[in-house]
Amino acid sequence: MARVPWVVGVSGASGTPYAAAVVRALLEAGEDVDLVVSRASRLTILDETGHPFRDAHAQDDLRRWLDRGADGSPDAFATDPARVRHWAPGDLAAGPSSGSYPVRGMLVVPASTACVAGVALGLSKDLLQRAASVTLKEHRPLVVAVRETPLNGQTLRHLVTLDEAGAVVLPASPAFYAGARHIQDLVDFVAGRVLDAAGVEHKLYRRWEGHLGSGTGGSDRDAGGTGPGGTGPMP
Ligand SMILES: Cc1cc2nc3c(=O)[nH]c(=O)nc-3n(C[C@H](O)[C@H](O)[C@H](O)COP(=O)(O)O)c2cc1C
Repeated sequence: MARVPWVVGVSGASGTPYAAAVVRALLEAGEDVDLVVSRASRLTILDETGHPFRDAHAQDDLRRWLDRGADGSPDAFATDPARVRHWAPGDLAAGPSSGSYPVRGMLVVPASTACVAGVALGLSKDLLQRAASVTLKEHRPLVVAVRETPLNGQTLRHLVTLDEAGAVVLPASPAFYAGARHIQDLVDFVAGRVLDAAGVEHKLYRRWEGHLGSGTGGSDRDAGGTGPGGTGPMP
């Protein structure tokens, strides 16, 4: 079978645990992933995990990042990143820079306001932005998980442009109705909504069932849940 991956673009907004949760869940769902980590996001990954992300050591650095829990525990997950293909952000000859390269769509997680602007304006200043523009022109699914607060009028206008172009604008905005008890639960909620928008099955969060208070019993993680993002109880 031909490999048809999801492109995951990680830009330099805060929220690198969201990206890790999305990649883990895609792999768990049996999907292939093409990963583009922007230059700026090397700083957020370093800041939020304490570890570098280097193109020359992408597989090792990726495994360490994917296995890290949102609370900082180094081995909260055991991820096999073999189905992740990494592309350097400056590689404008990479597969996802062309519409003829087969992909299912693209998830930008997290999306910086700079990235939002670049995609809205069609700047293609790097592979991440080019791949997002290609996704739009090919009318493939594009999910943009913007992370910034507050939002100025300029960014709001760019987000409207993306919405009108067919993207799903998905603020990285955790909810509390699913019984969140741990940082990972909040991260997984946002990651789960990203996968919902992409139409990929997952068990990252407990869905609303129409009953107030159903989330007060805690998350599935408390009950030893082992969804795609879970390894059972977290400390
Ligand atoms: C530690 C850190 C956190 C940042 N957090 C955000 C953020 O949450 N949202 C945002 O829009 N930009 C944030 N920035 C700024 C972006 O990294 C910056 O605008 C960069 O140019 C984005 O480039 P990129 O879109 O190519 O990744 C942050 C920068 C640093 C160093």
